[in-house]
Amino acid sequence: MAAPTYHLWESGCQMNAADALRAAALLERAGYVATDDGDHADFVLLSTCVIRQQAEDKFLRRMEQLAGQVRHRRLAVAVMGCFVGFSASQRAAAAERFPFVAVWMPPSDLSPLASYLAGRGLLPEGGTAPGPLPSSREGSAVTAHVPVVLGCSHACTYCIVPYRRGPERSRDAAEILSEVRSLAARGVKEVTLLGQIVDRYGLDREGSIRLPELLRRVAAVEGLARVRFLTSHPNWMGDELIDTVATTPKLCPAFEVPVQSGSDAVLERMRRGYRADDFRALVGRIRSRIPDASVSTDVIVGFCGETEKDFADTMQLMRDTQVDMIRIAKYSPRPLTWSARHLADDVPPEEKERRRVALDALLREMLTKKHAALAGTTGEILVESIEQTEGRRHGRRRGRFPDGLLVFAENSGAQPGDIVPVRITVPGPYASIAEATEGRK
Ligand code: SAH
Ligand code: SF4
Ligand code: F3S
Repeated sequence: MAAPTYHLWESGCQMNAADALRAAALLERAGYVATDDGDHADFVLLSTCVIRQQAEDKFLRRMEQLAGQVRHRRLAVAVMGCFVGFSASQRAAAAERFPFVAVWMPPSDLSPLASYLAGRGLLPEGGTAPGPLPSSREGSAVTAHVPVVLGCSHACTYCIVPYRRGPERSRDAAEILSEVRSLAARGVKEVTLLGQIVDRYGLDREGSIRLPELLRRVAAVEGLARVRFLTSHPNWMGDELIDTVATTPKLCPAFEVPVQSGSDAVLERMRRGYRADDFRALVGRIRSRIPDASVSTDVIVGFCGETEKDFADTMQLMRDTQVDMIRIAKYSPRPLTWSARHLADDVPPEEKERRRVALDALLREMLTKKHAALAGTTGEILVESIEQTEGRRHGRRRGRFPDGLLVFAENSGAQPGDIVPVRITVPGPYASIAEATEGRK
């Protein structure tokens, strides 16, 4: 008899992706084999995101399709991630709405899936959990994510994450390090430590080490070439962290610091806890200590009460700081959040879209100019994959510079996991083309 198959449907952030891979590892341990064909798989695992209405709608559409399928064929459906949420009442409401779902998993908690599989005799009861990588990806995964701070207790007024991932909890440092060692032993070359405010690592655990020390210890793990971390919060990124990145060669000089808005009035309504000038100063501190560091950020346009002037302040902050990437989102009111309950969503959809497009155009212009200066310069990429598409891109090695710059290298025989020196030939705003300069195989 052929092995049963599972299909992983993914959405959301790296935290979700990390959780989903662990669930996939459990399914493979139980004998399931991965398939890309979601319409014929025996087991469909949905990793859900609800950060904006659009993300939730995408999941709900997929659930409609699956509801149709479960009536006609044998299929088990499991749902994990932020749609599920960490509270039992949320989960009960979800179960009532979608009675055909066999397993509901709260974010970062695989135990319902483990019990389900154990109940069917597919996993030993209380057996050891598999590592953070499914066996099908061992030896081929070059990068991996390791959650170090779960949940969030900050309660920015627009944000649903604390309601779905629960309060902030730092994981035990020894457990994190053993997971990183196990990833490195399976061929992973780059790990990214994750947290909603990763800089707060350890603050909620008495006697725990903090993020700079954790990063130093992770960087010392044999076999790893690169270590990254995200997401930072302007109030919590201290000078010790910046110094640690500056002085630890394997720590990539890439800072992800969402600012959300360049208007102090909007930041106050978002309850972010800093002013635009604090972000200006932080970016200045990073760049003066580490000149080649990249700083990327997130911005929400069209938040409650955002005026034309507020938006202009955001545009100006982006010009002043010359950030290296902006992930732009249009404000979307989310259930239970302060802003959804107390503030009017009063920027019309067309205006939100206009601001998104304007900021996007500014980003493209800034990056085109900045990256043009990279033509002819050299750097090293960690090869993540080989492009399989037809035509000119075929065979290009996809990888990143330590600062995160996305590069497609031509004339290289390198394999995923190799570090390759390259020279930029055609710089672009979002991705650049390069040629391998040595070590051709
Ligand atoms: N913990 C990180 C990011 C969490 S959510 C932080 O503190 O910034 C990822 C991004 O989604 C946020 O940075 C924000 O830009 C966006 N986002 C969160 N809630 C949103 C909402 N209600 N509408 C639009 N975008 C939102
Ligand atoms: Fe959401 Fe704010 Fe926590 Fe980030 S810090 S996850 S935006 S509540
Ligand atoms: Fe989405 Fe949850 Fe991440 S809502 S962005 S998957 S923390």
